[in-house]
This record gives sequence, C-alpha cells and structure tokens, in this order.
Amino acid sequence: MPGTAATTEHILVLDFGSQVTQLIARRIRECGVYAEIVPCSISLDALLAAAPRGVVLSGGPSSVYDADAPLLAFDVETLAGQHGIPVLGICYGLQVIAHQGNGRVVPAQRREYGRAELWLDQPHDPLLEGVPSPTVVWMSHGDAVAELPPDYEPIAHTESAPYAAIRHRHMPIRGVQFHPEVHHTDHGARILENFVRRICQCSAQWTPEHFIASAIESVRRRVGSRGVVCALSGGVDSTVAAVLVHRALGQQLHCIHVDTGLMRARESETIERLFREHFDIPLTVVQAGELFLERLRGVTDPEQKRKIIGHTFIEVFERQAASFPDVGFLVQGTLYPDVIESQSVKGPSATIKSHHNVGGLPEHMQLDLVEPFRELFKDEVRAVGRALGVPEWFIERHPFPGPGLAIRIIGEVTPQRLEILRNADEIFIEELHRAGLYTAIWQAFAVLVPVQTVGVMGDSRTYENVCVLRAVTSTDGMTADWYPLPYEVMGRIASRITNEVRGINRVCYDITSKPPATIEWE
Ligand code: XMP
Repeated sequence: MPGTAATTEHILVLDFGSQVTQLIARRIRECGVYAEIVPCSISLDALLAAAPRGVVLSGGPSSVYDADAPLLAFDVETLAGQHGIPVLGICYGLQVIAHQGNGRVVPAQRREYGRAELWLDQPHDPLLEGVPSPTVVWMSHGDAVAELPPDYEPIAHTESAPYAAIRHRHMPIRGVQFHPEVHHTDHGARILENFVRRICQCSAQWTPEHFIASAIESVRRRVGSRGVVCALSGGVDSTVAAVLVHRALGQQLHCIHVDTGLMRARESETIERLFREHFDIPLTVVQAGELFLERLRGVTDPEQKRKIIGHTFIEVFERQAASFPDVGFLVQGTLYPDVIESQSVKGPSATIKSHHNVGGLPEHMQLDLVEPFRELFKDEVRAVGRALGVPEWFIERHPFPGPGLAIRIIGEVTPQRLEILRNADEIFIEELHRAGLYTAIWQAFAVLVPVQTVGVMGDSRTYENVCVLRAVTSTDGMTADWYPLPYEVMGRIASRITNEVRGINRVCYDITSKPPATIEWE
C-alpha cells in the first residue's frame, strides 16, 4: 500500500468514500507534505507499520448508524493517546470520532449544505491559528454531532452547529464538521496546513526534487541491470516518465514511438526532436501509418476503430520491443487517481473511467511495470517535468487520445480526410495560442464531419465537408464544460480554416458539455 510513504514524512488520509477525498491529499501535498489515501478499513498494525506523522479521516456519504456504515478498525484514542499520532476527522470523520467516543450523533433536521459562517471559540488552538473569526466554511452533511464525548470541547461553532470544530482536551485529536479541503472554505488550506505543520510537526519536504531523487533510487533498485521499454505517445505523462527513467537507467531504457499515421500535424517530428535534440535520449520511431490505414479501410464503427488501433499498436510495439536485449520492464505513466479509484472504500464501481489507453500490455510479454507516477496527481507530474527540464510548451500540451485523429473523423478514416483534419486542427490550435487562450482550455481540437454542404467561394459553388471545433475545460476529463471562446476568435478561426483548408467550407462550434456528450466525438 503506502509506497514512497515508508521513507518519507507523510500523512495518511483514511477514505470513507467522500467525493472530495482526493482533494484532502492534494491540499496537504500543496503544503509540501506528502499525503497518501488508504481505505478506512486499514488495521491499526498496518497503519502503525506505515508510520505516518498524522491521520486524516475523510468525509463520506454514510451515517454512522447505517447497517453497513464504514467505521474504524481501531480506536482513535489508542492511536493518538498511546502512539502519539494526531488525528483530524473531517465531516463524517468527525462523526466517527464522536460516535466512537460515546458522544451523540443525530440526523440533522435538514441536510446542511453550502456556506456557513464559522465563529472561533478557541482562536489559539493550533488548528485555527491565523484563521479570522468569523470565516466562511463549506458544509455538506446530514447527521450532526449533538453531544460531545467526554474529554472533548468545541473550538468553533456556526449558527446551526455548536460543534463545528472540536478537540480532545488531552490528546492530539481534532474534528471539523465543514470541509476545509474545498475552495469554498476561505481558510481551509490554512487549517489543513496548521494540522500537518503545527499539530503533526511535519516539515515541508515534499518537492519535485525530493520526489525525483527518491524515484530514481527506487527505479534503480527495482530494475537492476535489465532492459526497460517505454511507449512514447507524445503525451505529458509518458514523456516525463521516460525522462525520469532515463535519468535513473541511461542506456538501459529504450523509448519507442509508434507513428500510427493518426497523429496531429508534425506530432511525431516534435517528439523526435524533443527526445533526440533536447534530451539526447535515443528514440526509435516506427513508421506504421500504412499498416494502420490499411486495417482501418472501410471501417466506420467507432468501437471497431478503437479495437483495431489498439491491437495494431500492441503488435507493432511488441515487435519493436523484442528487438532490444534482455527487456524485463515496461514504463507506464499511470497516475494516482487511477490507482486510488481501484482501492477506494466503495470499490471500483463508484467512478469507473473506461481504460482507453492504447498500449495495454499483452500478458504473454511478461513485462513488469515501472510506474514512477503511481503516487502523483497530474499537476505534480507537470511540476516534476519542469524540474527535469521538460520545456514549458510541452508540459502544457492538451491531452491527445491514443487512437488519435481516427476518433475525430466521423466514419471512415482516409488519407485525404486525415490531411484535411490535420490542417484545420493546426490552424485552430495556432489561433488559440495567438489569442493567449490555449492554457485556459483543457483540450481543444477540430473534428471532421464528412457531410457535404453547399457553399460559395468567389463566384463558384462549393460542396465540401463540415468541420466542428471543440474546446472544453475540465480537471480530469471525466466531466467537462464547453469553453466560451470569444466571438472574434471564433470568427478568425472559421475564416482561416475555410480560406486555407481545401475540403472544408463550413465551421461549427460544439457547445455541449460532458455529460451528456463526451469530449471526443467517437
Ligand atoms: P471522452 O471522449 O471519453 O474523453 O469524454 C475523455 C478524455 O479521454 C481521452 N480519450 C482517450 N485517451 N485513449 C486515450 O489515451 C482513448 O482511446 C481515448 N478516448 C478518449 C479524451 O481525449 C479526453 O481527454
């Protein structure tokens, strides 16, 4: 379970199933302290073996009185009293503490949701230091604590919650009814920082440089002298992973980029240049465009396209990987959210992200995985990339799906359609950069809808394709909002595309969010 944790000063966040548990870990890491999420069912022995500096109990959707309510496998007073490990309960976590200590938790008259004003009763409590009174906090709970367990006292209240923040009189145990991890709580970051720095006495060690040093060491230890392969898609995660593993292993790493022929304009060249010239990391580029296009000929069904591309990718990658000596490992840019999704309190069913990454590993390859970012969030990978010297323009690139432009061309993929789409997409992206909007957008791209409509150019009638522009904001790709592009920017893009790209005479803008639509069109 805990990975880097065993060697680093850290906090464990026990997950009771809140939608925002990840945010707790992120906020703590933002204060420079490593935090890891573990299921709330963790045993006392396992917890002590991980040796955290402190423990946070997350919120959760349950009531402590539910028949299957998740509760702790140990007593918080044992943890904090006997073992001296501070505990902070948040929302449901607070109710678990109160319930365990024989306080009284009751269903609220009505669910309290939204802003509340918090008044401090004990402004000098280390948890609340630097927090003004009153301050705005964010509430989201059904049950509430009506009576404190013996030895506890309130340290802050709201109009409707006399025990909005509490502490044990002798042990390092605190609880808050509100959510300090969400941005709507004005001084929430300060409260979490107070907990980890003042109460748990953590220093700020968690920096990209610290991570890089320990990751290099653990990659070396794990791989020994064997060979490692990495599929470079051109995305940020696999690129930063490759650069890091190259730092650790040098010539033992073999990077492979499969040019599927479904890439954006100059994409493969860009990756090649970055690796060869900027990093001096050897890279094998396999030109497989013809093979992919041949297999996609006549195929119009999106799922079938994805499958064909996935299988062909593996086949090409595997053949190339087999040409390197003594390969025992595969580098993958797996991120922390993917890892915790599969071990959260509710199990993987709560939020399933269909795993659509091209490059899934066929079992018979028998390679072990090297996943240096299993403990990182996306923005931390970006910070690591910066610290490793990956240029900013690359770090900020939008995500690009494995099946590439094939899922942005509705219907059959042909070389002509790819060419048209590439040209339109390039203009779109160029104009976003020019307008200074590129980084405000999570993902932007053009889609080719091969439906012909009538237009007029000069004095002649045209009968060409429709191009749809899509730009969305998102934090993780799971949900998304369409981005309100300024009219003049849209106008300039549409005019350039229709003037400069042969094969397009009409441009539309996609104004659907996800859900109900998805980000990609296929
Ligand atoms: P959707 O279209 O499902 O996309 O809303 C969500 C995010 O995932 C990306 N995506 C993919 N990435 N292989 C990938 O590596 C795929 O098959 C794939 N399909 C979608 C998409 O670009 C967006 O960022």
